[in-house]
Amino acid sequence: MSIAVYPGSFDPITEGHLDIIKRSAAIFDEVIVSVLINPEKNGNFNVEERVELIERVIKNLDNVKVESFYGLLVNYMKERNAKVIIKGLRSVSDFEYEFQMALMNKKLDPTIETVFMMTNAKYSYLSSSSVKQVAMFGGCIDELVPHEIASDVIDKISRK
Ligand code: PNS
Repeated sequence: MSIAVYPGSFDPITEGHLDIIKRSAAIFDEVIVSVLINPEKNGNFNVEERVELIERVIKNLDNVKVESFYGLLVNYMKERNAKVIIKGLRSVSDFEYEFQMALMNKKLDPTIETVFMMTNAKYSYLSSSSVKQVAMFGGCIDELVPHEIASDVIDKISRK
């Protein structure tokens, strides 16, 4: 059985993330969306909130589940017996960062492969941080995050 892990901050999940999840679910037997800590980012949503938002948007995808983990991604992969990390790529700047991370993960565990999936062009400008900025200043995020979570994202960000 092929198990792939799609790791990220998901602060919050966007339409771009969901697109990668659906396309991965069509390739692998099981996809685990994993909320991990990126030490370089301060989150707006706590980990439990991020997981709950993801649960809502993947509920109709039978071979997708969501979990969280505190620690190294490669250790989590070993716990789940997963050999493939999925990453979405939007730009050359994404590539530089992801390339470094993929090589570090390879150094830590040579049995793990990182598979890069190009963003859907219609989401190539989209990021969780830009969604939060739009929400913070009262812009419309309807086509930026899944409809099931849009109002909760606005509530949370505007309360900050
Ligand atoms: O959505 P992001 O912020 O680009 O995701 C980055 C994330 C969370 C996948 C990455 O920071 C991560 O893997 N964190 C866990 C710690 C780890 O294993 N780091 C890789 C070795 S440097």
